[in-house]
Amino acid sequence: MPTTVDRLLVHAGELLTARAGPRGAVGAALEDPEVIPDGALALAGGRIVDVGDSATLLARCDATVVEDMEGRLVTPGFVDSHVHLVHGGTRHAEYDRRIRGLPPPSGAPAGIAATMAHTAATDDAALLARAHRDLDVMLAHGTTTTEAKTGYGDGLDEEWRLLRLTGALSHPVTVVPTFLPAHALPPSQAHDRRGFLDQVVAAVPEAVGRAAFVDVFCDPLGFTVEECERVLAAAQRAGLPRKVHADQTADVGATALAARRGATSIDHVDHADAAAIEALAATGSVAVLLPGVAHHLGELTPDRAGHVAKPHLPAQAQRLVDAGATVALSTDFNPGTSPTPSMQTVLELAVRLFRVSAAAAWQMATINGAHALGLARDRGSLEVGKAADVVVWDVASHQQVTNRYGTNQVRSVLVGGEPVAGEGREGMRSR
Ligand code: NIG
Ligand code: FE
Repeated sequence: MPTTVDRLLVHAGELLTARAGPRGAVGAALEDPEVIPDGALALAGGRIVDVGDSATLLARCDATVVEDMEGRLVTPGFVDSHVHLVHGGTRHAEYDRRIRGLPPPSGAPAGIAATMAHTAATDDAALLARAHRDLDVMLAHGTTTTEAKTGYGDGLDEEWRLLRLTGALSHPVTVVPTFLPAHALPPSQAHDRRGFLDQVVAAVPEAVGRAAFVDVFCDPLGFTVEECERVLAAAQRAGLPRKVHADQTADVGATALAARRGATSIDHVDHADAAAIEALAATGSVAVLLPGVAHHLGELTPDRAGHVAKPHLPAQAQRLVDAGATVALSTDFNPGTSPTPSMQTVLELAVRLFRVSAAAAWQMATINGAHALGLARDRGSLEVGKAADVVVWDVASHQQVTNRYGTNQVRSVLVGGEPVAGEGREGMRSR
């Protein structure tokens, strides 16, 4: 007796499931993803109800809609686990100088402080409209779940506004809110660093029920290990899972701190040393790598004096894999260091800059990203029982997506089993 389903996708050239073990795809498994030739997927009630080859599923499913993939690649949607979504303004003029080694235009705030000022000057409706447009672009490029950090609030009132707006987003992309009150010292409180930190520590428990994670920027450009430990301890006491921007511009011991504080993910880790990497892997924290930053800031190519800022990044990625860590890839979408909302671009960059295989990049961007957001039970792979978040590609193989670069190769995106972008998107969001 066949099972009745809503939708059956058949004849996928490759069905890349990204199914993996309890810690995601790690070590040798990164090179050996599950790929079903002539694959099929059955969807019902917004969930995946069967996965296998086309002949088997055609025999055991009775579908309302049967769609022939005509040999195309079918994958899970990307899970983008490190995203500074809600913010105002852009920093293109600053970037145009920065990439040539020149200081920011004088007289105006630069860096995170500039975006804090732009954000404060942007009203709620405009911030929401902008975030929705960015989510549209993410979705069109294959992302179906994203994180959304605060962090561009000039002070805590603004941080709460950004968290409230994040909660008000209504979009087919699933949004996971992260509270990042210690990103940079707000210019309005520049005179009182200690007082600001005290306020942040006191505020953290109020994020319960509003944010899925608390994050800190633990770096010479952000906050010290001691300061971040206070924030992370407050999060731990409140039962809030933790993320850490760790050791991005120098090794300050942030990765070790994050592992000690049981962070779900430890992000950047550009300068983490061998002992910290061991601690990260042993804790089961996910290392989130952000090749868009290395690309945008030119960290792997010589500057005009011939100096390469971070030649060790490909080796660092390999070290993490060799240590048995769960490694994820993410955009770090933000207006300063990585203005791309496209995970497709990030996969292309991971292959070119970090020298990872297409197979590894795909799993880092799907199932391992889901682990970085604590959502692996429901997202990140094509497995029975998980949300039916599926991408159909214009090419036949996962390796083709990372081979051809610079164009959008998504044909259509389904969220909860319904087409929401690309071909057949009549059902696109209502908001
Ligand atoms: O993740 N590292 C800190 N925060 C961002 C950069 C923010 C900015 O420049 O606006 C990041 O890279
Ligand atoms: Fe970031």
